[in-house]
Amino acid sequence: RSVAFIGSECYPFVKTGGLGDVMYALPRELVKQNCDVRVILPRYACIRQQYQDKMVYRGEFYMDLGRTGRNYYVGIMEYVCDGVVYDFIDNQEFFSAGNPYISLVDDIPKYCFFSKAALAALNFMNWIPDIIHCHDWQAALVPVYLRTLFHDSPVGRAKTVLTIHNLRFQGIYNIPTIQYWSGLPDEVFNMGALKQGYEDANMLKGGLAYADRITTVSGTYAQEIQTGEYGEQLEEHLRYHSYKLRGIVNGIDYEMWNPKTDAALAVNYDADDVLKRKKENKLALQKELGLEQDEEKLVLGLISRLTNQKGLDLFNAIIPQVMDGNTQIVVLGTGDKQYEDTFRYYENTYHGMFSACIQYDEARAHRIYAGADALLVPSRFEPCGLTQLNAMHYGTLPIVRETGGLKDTVEPYNVYTGSGNGFTFDRYDAGLLLDAINRAKTTYFTERANWDQVVQRDMAKDVSWENSAKQYKNLYLELTQW
Ligand code: ADP
Ligand code: GLC
Repeated sequence: RSVAFIGSECYPFVKTGGLGDVMYALPRELVKQNCDVRVILPRYACIRQQYQDKMVYRGEFYMDLGRTGRNYYVGIMEYVCDGVVYDFIDNQEFFSAGNPYISLVDDIPKYCFFSKAALAALNFMNWIPDIIHCHDWQAALVPVYLRTLFHDSPVGRAKTVLTIHNLRFQGIYNIPTIQYWSGLPDEVFNMGALKQGYEDANMLKGGLAYADRITTVSGTYAQEIQTGEYGEQLEEHLRYHSYKLRGIVNGIDYEMWNPKTDAALAVNYDADDVLKRKKENKLALQKELGLEQDEEKLVLGLISRLTNQKGLDLFNAIIPQVMDGNTQIVVLGTGDKQYEDTFRYYENTYHGMFSACIQYDEARAHRIYAGADALLVPSRFEPCGLTQLNAMHYGTLPIVRETGGLKDTVEPYNVYTGSGNGFTFDRYDAGLLLDAINRAKTTYFTERANWDQVVQRDMAKDVSWENSAKQYKNLYLELTQW
């Protein structure tokens, strides 16, 4: 029962978003459920020294790459933690930058190299998994390599699963460049596999064609990506392959996200004392961020990459209407300059009531989940979304757009029955977001007992990996008859 995970990021080594969380948490849960799991990652130079120091040399070999006519060094560095084996592919020609992702000019060769080296490393270590589980475009050539250049090698007997965490990124470049770096045979550059349009190759598209199963990180997103609105030009390709596509919703790691033990918090709490302790966390957060300290203010948090995906233009348009003297806003995120600047502007305008933390800070994120009353996720599209799960687990009510995993994980609050987990809106419309925030305000300020019940319900909700990991195991089982 063995699985190799192949992907471009994994907490705590390197993380830019939810992919890093999933690459950390899902293998750990699979190990608990008796699977044998290895995670194969690039050995980026930007991995912090404390982790570099823990890696042990496992071996090295040389590998030809594409049509470069050169042999490239492949080192394997290993680190074992809580039963999960991490193998880092070393080659400082490709992985020496300060960030995992740079621009496609660098990233296309880098991930061609990585995908091929990962398979070659499995052969080299003579560790042949039943399943190879690849993630996003950076590892999407793995199934293509496996069914072509590696077909007759030992690893060729493995079955492949390709998970789409975000369809927006596909690894598209002109055909000659991808031919040059991948060295894949001409026959894969056809319209059914890598080829797209007249002159481009699309690495994700090729992976989807060759993978034995495709998953994405929620059931709703699995449906949405088969439509023009969400399909990012691949809707037809995905419809064609829909017989092997399914959605499995993400969870969160209960050890990493536990308000009872979380070392980053001002005070720890559980469902029994959440109402009291959350106020203490709120006061501490207000102090930390230079906001007016008042436990009765409604604090709205937003923790996000600041990109077009996340619905920030809706939010920016209504901020003046949200600021009513009793509401504070805390933003934590980095990304596109236009959003960073807008949030800085509002911080200046609403001094003491609006905090813009333009930074990436894990510990502060934990304190916002604990100290805020509600968390905004108004995304344009959201394959799964983890921040609403973290929020609910910390007793913070999500305010979300009904799309992708947000729709699957947040049941709308019903004022008549009191049921639900948070506040939702459907169309991508700033007025509807404002309306959802206003419903949250009404509940918080005038029906506090109902609000508090939702807090309790959200903390009790199962957002762990247990059930979803079982679904992945069943999928692996279908492919291998373990
Ligand atoms: P995505 O993968 O699209 O960025 P997710 O909701 O799946 O969205 O995952 C985002 C993850 O990154 C969450 O764990 C969230 O807490 C974290 N995160 C996002 N921005 C920041 C930030 N500025 N500082 C700390 N953590 C952040
Ligand atoms: C992507 C998506 C996000 C999802 C994460 C982990 O980055 O944007 O919705 O939660 O991957 O699967």
